[in-house]
Amino acid sequence: MPNVIVKTGNKILEINAQQGQNLLELLRKADIDISTPCNGNGTCGKCKVRILSGHLPNPSQNEIKVLGFNAIESGYRLSCCYAVRSDVEILLESDSLQAQIVTEGRQRSFELDPVVTKENIVLEKPSLSSQISDFERVLGSCSMLEVNTPSLQLIRNIPELIRQKDYNISLIKTGTRLLGVEAGDTTESLYGVAVDIGTTTIAAYLIDLTDGERLCVYSGLNPQKKFGADVISRIKHTIDSETGLEELNNLIINEINSCIGAMCEEANISRSDIYAITLVGNTTMTHFLLKVPAKNIAAAPFIPAVTSMVKINAKELGVDINPYGLAFVLPAVSAYIGADTVGAVLSTGMYEQEDISLLIDIGTNGEIVLGNREVLYACSSAAGPAFEGANIRNGIGSIKGAINSISLKSGVSYTTIGGAEPVGICGTGIVDGIAQLLEMGIVDETGRLDDEWEPATPEQASLAKNITVVDNMNAFLICGDIAITQKDIRELQNAKGAIAAGINVLVKQSGINFSDIKNVYLAGGFGTYINVDSALKIGLIPFQLRGKIQPVGNAAGQGAIEGLLSVKRLSDAEIISKKIKYIELSSSKDFNDFYMNCMMFE
Ligand code: FES
Repeated sequence: MPNVIVKTGNKILEINAQQGQNLLELLRKADIDISTPCNGNGTCGKCKVRILSGHLPNPSQNEIKVLGFNAIESGYRLSCCYAVRSDVEILLESDSLQAQIVTEGRQRSFELDPVVTKENIVLEKPSLSSQISDFERVLGSCSMLEVNTPSLQLIRNIPELIRQKDYNISLIKTGTRLLGVEAGDTTESLYGVAVDIGTTTIAAYLIDLTDGERLCVYSGLNPQKKFGADVISRIKHTIDSETGLEELNNLIINEINSCIGAMCEEANISRSDIYAITLVGNTTMTHFLLKVPAKNIAAAPFIPAVTSMVKINAKELGVDINPYGLAFVLPAVSAYIGADTVGAVLSTGMYEQEDISLLIDIGTNGEIVLGNREVLYACSSAAGPAFEGANIRNGIGSIKGAINSISLKSGVSYTTIGGAEPVGICGTGIVDGIAQLLEMGIVDETGRLDDEWEPATPEQASLAKNITVVDNMNAFLICGDIAITQKDIRELQNAKGAIAAGINVLVKQSGINFSDIKNVYLAGGFGTYINVDSALKIGLIPFQLRGKIQPVGNAAGQGAIEGLLSVKRLSDAEIISKKIKYIELSSSKDFNDFYMNCMMFE
């Protein structure tokens, strides 16, 4: 049996492999977190490892294309293309890098009316003249208290519970419905958790339901990413593997449980003090969360199994909180407008305003919503992964060391996340870099990188030496061997063209003009960190919207928090999901026309 030694950060692991076993499969089985946006198809290059010693096979044509000669020479290979034939020592370089995840959202005021409440009462003690049963005694203690289907466990527990503190009890309720009973006055201990499950990241918030205070925040990577960076790869995994759906469900439930554990430890409370959890995510993520088949989301006519709000006992979902605790999965609209978008519309308040607003949440898909209290239109535009750094030569996610802003005003200068040594360029850096290249005239309005560019001023003269050839195409060097290539520019044109075309389709559909739009909300990490001027410069956001743009952070997560703290907001989420008119872009002729125009830089 070959032995594989994996070096990652300051950890060293030793794993036994089967003769000829695929290295990526081995790493996944060992729960090693490795980025695989193409899910092992050998096209993204993100699963690369460096072979430090042992069998170094000749590279395939594919590996040469994806990794480039320099990396091949330095011993890099794609783990998804590598068969373990003998003992080998490998280095995983990206494993210890931490993602930059936006957890803050914009808050609106609302009345505190949490989805689960407690009430302390002292029951009238039984006597020969008051012989009603313990359960009926509890029910009769509070006007309007109802039990739809009393849990057998609750009935079994009641005799002991009510006598423990001499008939002093706390009722746990959702609305007027009785969920459970606790001995004594426990009304001070009432907490909830809100979770935003992104395809790439997960953000969770621990909230004190007695006063609405946010006690702590947790953010991490979605562990499902080992089955692909995008929802389609993960759905494919559930189709290809009999246990695929189970695996994806287990991964997210375990992650939620461990993030609840971490937050409880930080806030010094017990899991059993948590009585409610609200969850948002795109429609595929909520299907995996509920262990509901998602395969019909992946192919036309794109039919999800469920879009309505799912309200169940948290235990049934596998979430480890108080046994009486409830889980609320916010409603979605369609296969590609999920509960996360509904949550974002909820937290921006655009569904209640007279002014027309535009909400844009850019990821692999760009979810776009336009409207006001009268009507809301939404579409999901397949931008591709360029804004997340994929399919870009030196593209990476928003991790430490990612170049996130670039200026060419006086030579080349840039900043990186965490101020670390540059390791690649993330989406906001790409947008910034290409906006700057346009500004300088190094890239023209068709997207062509001009290798004969002449500086217009003496200050620009030093930039000429950064124009070079990389991978047989024109490129602009940012630092070291990190460059923006002609192909990267084309990728960005496709991505920004798709988003801008989606915006145009909604504007046309709603019969308004750009000047009628009063607010533009940019949601999510990309929307938070993007340089708005650069986004306008490349035409990602139409120029007419200048001056109206405001980042709203993790608006989806904020929507989940508001749903937890306000029964009204939770029911508003249902209203929003029904109110939104979904526009399918794949069959829209307008979209194709706008897309061709929007790919150009104006
Ligand atoms: S190239 Fe191996 S996972 Fe993408």
